[in-house]
Amino acid sequence: MIEVRGLTKSYGERLAIQDINFTVKKGEVVGFLGPNGAGKSTTMKIITGYMAPSNGTVLVDGYDVFESPLEVKKRIGYLPETPPVYMDMIVKDYLTFVAKLHGKPSVEAKSLSDLAMEKTSLTEVSRRLIGNLSKGYRQRVGLAQALVSDPEVLILDEPTVGLDPKQVHEMRELIQKLKGQHTIVLSTHILPEVQATCDRLIIISRGKIVAEDSLEGLGKRLSASGQVLLKIRRGAEELISSMVRDVPGVLSVRKNGSYLEASVDHSEDTIEAIANYTIKKNAGLLELKSVDLDLEQIFIRLTSAEKNH
Ligand SMILES: Nc1ncnc2c1ncn2[C@@H]1O[C@H](COP(=O)(O)OP(=O)(O)O)[C@@H](O)[C@H]1O
Ligand SMILES: [Mg+2]
Repeated sequence: MIEVRGLTKSYGERLAIQDINFTVKKGEVVGFLGPNGAGKSTTMKIITGYMAPSNGTVLVDGYDVFESPLEVKKRIGYLPETPPVYMDMIVKDYLTFVAKLHGKPSVEAKSLSDLAMEKTSLTEVSRRLIGNLSKGYRQRVGLAQALVSDPEVLILDEPTVGLDPKQVHEMRELIQKLKGQHTIVLSTHILPEVQATCDRLIIISRGKIVAEDSLEGLGKRLSASGQVLLKIRRGAEELISSMVRDVPGVLSVRKNGSYLEASVDHSEDTIEAIANYTIKKNAGLLELKSVDLDLEQIFIRLTSAEKNH
């Protein structure tokens, strides 16, 4: 449904994104995850046709965003990072207005507005001024304007940013409800967001995609990468240099305070082999524990990878 090829964008001298490639299939819910400044909003503005790339193309349902912008806009609902809501309009009129902007005739625009309010649980505030609503409700109005034209694709830029925990929960539930009805790409800089709602993750850092995987696949990476912490009385330097060579499954070893930290493949065989090896080396083993990396740590590793090399 969405094909992003070789997207590059610079703002003057600053390269915001570089050679971004990915595809999103019809009906998928994809999380676009990355720290602040990674290039999420830039990518989304280009996909929705609000900004031209310096290089690269985007196809939505086969239509090129820049050759056929109207065809693309028909198919996309967009919640930008700052929702385009008019503070001095009432909710119902605003949504009807947005539907008319999408070329819907008056009567249809009204029923689309009702439907969008129903989907986003706004019906009870339909006659309130947008400016008088809480931030959470205003964000829902933002979501409602994205889906009022009943687009196939929803592009949601950090839909929960600035909301309190209860509002975050409600917004996640709304997005859950939209699953199956739309193809959704949502960006976020916080991991629990995508864990709650997405089938697949695209992780972006410093303008480049650093990983692309299903939640399940990331889970597998997780089980394929663990850590063993060792506290020993002597011979740390020797173990650091010999363990990777001598113990299969040990990927690297480094010193961290009074512990040695071994990155391992996570099998129990490897953990047992490390214990045996340390004892054979007569290093005075005081403590050994195996630690799982959680998604958060994997995310931090992936997005700070450049710093480590
Ligand atoms: N209008 C702009 N002019 C100059 N630099 C910009 C502009 N918008 C974004 N940037 C820069 O481009 C990079 C990516 O920004 P953005 O796409 O907003 O990231 P994200 O949405 O992931 O936080 C950042 O370094 C940001 O400072
Ligand atoms: Mg952003």
